[in-house]
Amino acid sequence: MPATKIVVNIPGETPYDVRIGASVLDELGASLRKLPKVAEAPQLLMITDSNVAPLYLEAAKASCKDAGFRVSDIVVPAGEDSKSVEVAGEIWAAAADLGLTRDCAVVALGGGVVGDLAGFIASTYMRGIPFVQVPTTLLAMVDSSVGGKTGVNLPAGKNLVGTFKQPAFVCASTAVLATLDAREWACGCAEIAKSAVIDSDDFFFWLSSHTRQLMARGGSTVTEAIARSVVFKAGVVAQDKTESCGVRECLNYGHTLGHAVEALAGYGTFSHGAAVAEGMRFAARLGREVVGTSEELVTAQDELLDALGLPALAWSAPAEDMLAAMKRDKKTRAGEVRFVLPRDVGDWELVAVPDDVILEQLRAWEASK
Ligand code: GLY
Repeated sequence: MPATKIVVNIPGETPYDVRIGASVLDELGASLRKLPKVAEAPQLLMITDSNVAPLYLEAAKASCKDAGFRVSDIVVPAGEDSKSVEVAGEIWAAAADLGLTRDCAVVALGGGVVGDLAGFIASTYMRGIPFVQVPTTLLAMVDSSVGGKTGVNLPAGKNLVGTFKQPAFVCASTAVLATLDAREWACGCAEIAKSAVIDSDDFFFWLSSHTRQLMARGGSTVTEAIARSVVFKAGVVAQDKTESCGVRECLNYGHTLGHAVEALAGYGTFSHGAAVAEGMRFAARLGREVVGTSEELVTAQDELLDALGLPALAWSAPAEDMLAAMKRDKKTRAGEVRFVLPRDVGDWELVAVPDDVILEQLRAWEASK
């Protein structure tokens, strides 16, 4: 099957391609040779992690070397802890030791942690050099590799330091998804479901009628799910590149409660996707009270999430603790907790919901467990 190509066209940025398909990793070097800002790079710095390196680093490097590139690599420990200022400092120093110059490029080979970290390196080293995303998780393919958010965590919170820098190219190999476990797969499915609810009837009904194929990882369905998610996200980012005019926030659907679940249950207890799915269920029910969300949406979304291996969590925390956790989130402004609430599929609103309304819904949520 030939690769699918989506062009991401964001005002003020150089348009870039997202190539999706089974053989795109083998063709990585050839693709980079066609990129104006990367083709003549004297050196590529591939940044990956200790989980991905044994699986795909050699193949990615071989493809680039076959295309005539000189390639160096840095392997960071797998896990969120690598998204730190300390690790970034080590990579800046290593890049300088390797003689990386302004005309070189960074290649991020990995999931969201590697993509955010490598993007941050590329946007800061020598005041910015080109970078390419080679996402290796479904979650990174449908969300973090597109749209240009980069960053590292601080002890005070996740992603507190970062930049916006669009990649020059995204290489989404469906072949590498074979090694993802069920938890990671569901994580990506949660973001696809989020995109479908916010996007349109067309995406939502397509996804609802392809859940079996997506869970079976059928090649053409996986490619289409990624492509639809990328088209949706690119459209959102094109309207609000820096999340400053109230549009890009729609990508946070499900994340308000989801982040509180992750923080209170302890990071890693539930996958990010499971927490987001729980947040979508909660937001739809809150929406019923606040923006008149239809019962049909609540039910259809529950069924979609169930079918994607994202059941309602058998976990809760006291309503007051959940509200306090939401208020600590960096997306809270002036103490107001804001939710993306779907009125219907493809029709959403960003609403600052009063505390008493949130607490009432949280109590109902707690009682349902
Ligand atoms: N992952 C949300 C965003 O890129 O804005």
